[in-house]
Amino acid sequence: MKHAIQKVLRHLGYEVHRTRSAPASAAGKAANWIGEPAPVDSVWPLPRRPGGLSDNQIREELAKHDLWHYAFSFEGGISVSLRHRNVSPLATPERPLQRFRHFMPYLIAAAGGSLRGKRILDIACNAGFWSIQCALLGADVTAFDGRGELIEEAKLIKSIVGLPNVEFTVLDFWKMSPESLGGRFDIVLNLGILYHLTHPLEALQLTKSMAKTHILLDTTVYPSTEPVIHLRWEEAYDITSSIHSGIATNPSKSGLELMLKHVGAARWFEIPLRTPDMPEDYLENRRASWLVEVP
Ligand SMILES: C[S@@+](CC[C@H](N)C(=O)[O-])C[C@H]1O[C@@H](n2cnc3c(N)ncnc32)[C@H](O)[C@@H]1O
Repeated sequence: MKHAIQKVLRHLGYEVHRTRSAPASAAGKAANWIGEPAPVDSVWPLPRRPGGLSDNQIREELAKHDLWHYAFSFEGGISVSLRHRNVSPLATPERPLQRFRHFMPYLIAAAGGSLRGKRILDIACNAGFWSIQCALLGADVTAFDGRGELIEEAKLIKSIVGLPNVEFTVLDFWKMSPESLGGRFDIVLNLGILYHLTHPLEALQLTKSMAKTHILLDTTVYPSTEPVIHLRWEEAYDITSSIHSGIATNPSKSGLELMLKHVGAARWFEIPLRTPDMPEDYLENRRASWLVEVP
């Protein structure tokens, strides 16, 4: 019977492999040490600086940009629509709000219940959704992205909200260093970038070198119980993709955790899914998030 099913699957073009269970868990993989954190929601719609740009001026400024990865929404009923070159069913206006409710409560709890006064680095910040949220929660944020047009968008959002405690700059991931960014950070956000890079192990090493206490890691994962890294080709086409066309990588969950062990992270846990109100890729185990503590 088993062979018959395998034969049919092969006939349909599937490869059939025997998989062993994942190797013994990497040292450092820990039970969730946070427990059940208090729920936290994003500040949404975004507040506007009193005396700042008028409704019409905001609309005009937003309209100067073609593509938007976040459907920013502001007090007074002004918002911008999502626009990508590659339209993905995963890109919905709710997506960042759902992701926020998923992993930010754990980060805030790990930081002692508040981000106030924490120095945060937002890697590959796109138009600044995470940076703006952290700045609204009182953190001092440094953020960068490799695409200049996205940093222009982020600066526009910053000026509409009126935040002094966030700085946006154009930088390639591989040029990041404590020297280029004014020292290390209490918290490093490595969100939605690992799977755009060619060298995931080196990328995690570099991320760790930027962090004093915590890394929040969020990435797509390859669906295998083996510790593997899956290669694919990525064109530098959209505002969500790599800035250089080339090989991009997807580690499996156990592959990612072995890499965390290799780079010397102190301990980590995968942030549990606590609600079905999450994007499909998280619900289907194609994407996951980790809270990582560094020594
Ligand atoms: C999928 S988006 C993730 C945005 C955001 N971090 C989030 O999780 O919502 C990937 C971002 O990485 C940026 N990016 C890709 N390759 C980069 C590189 N080598 N250096 C800096 N930014 C890069 C893209 O411009 C894009 O804004």
